[in-house]
Amino acid sequence: MKKLAMAICGVAVAACGAADAKTLVAYYSRSGNTAAVAKMIQTATGGDIFEIKTADADYYPAEYTPMTEVAKKEIADGTLPPINDVPDLTQYDTVLIGTPIWWGTMSSPVRTFLTQNSLSGKTGAPFVSHGGGGAGTSFADIEKLTSGAANKQGYAVYGDDATSDGIDAWLTEIGVK
Ligand SMILES: Cc1cc2nc3c(=O)[nH]c(=O)nc-3n(C[C@H](O)[C@H](O)[C@H](O)COP(=O)(O)O)c2cc1C
Repeated sequence: MKKLAMAICGVAVAACGAADAKTLVAYYSRSGNTAAVAKMIQTATGGDIFEIKTADADYYPAEYTPMTEVAKKEIADGTLPPINDVPDLTQYDTVLIGTPIWWGTMSSPVRTFLTQNSLSGKTGAPFVSHGGGGAGTSFADIEKLTSGAANKQGYAVYGDDATSDGIDAWLTEIGVK
């Protein structure tokens, strides 16, 4: 029986493995807020989770104000900070992308992730953590980098101010739960 299951898996890889593995929660977080929301979303979906990080842990200045200036400049000139190795995305049919809002848009490491990895053919939806200014242009900017994906409505929270009810309502609305 095990042999038969393996043979079937060999033919239809997409149908194999845990059903949970179909959703990936991929996020970047500088100070932990987006990470907290990402973990709640992972719990709600039962999916996998991947933390996007800069390849160099010291890429950004540790102090807040100099860090925001580096981020401002790279957003203005389109610099893509190198990031860590990304898992094989072919195993996922839904990818939920989490980012803090930086200067009214997505954080630069998430821009790198979306520029270097195609979500074409997948369901995609962003979730963002902001400091009071809302989602800015992030949803539209992320959609531009995920052409070919079935892009769903994003979810925005202040800080890590997400509730499991709010997350469940969002996931139900976008058909992921
Ligand atoms: C470089 C930088 C730019 C930011 N720009 C904005 C902004 O435009 N609007 C806003 O509401 N918050 C802004 N913030 C605040 C963060 O979006 C907010 O603190 C968020 O919760 C941080 O998430 P994290 O802990 O996952 O990094 C900015 C923070 C940084 C570091």
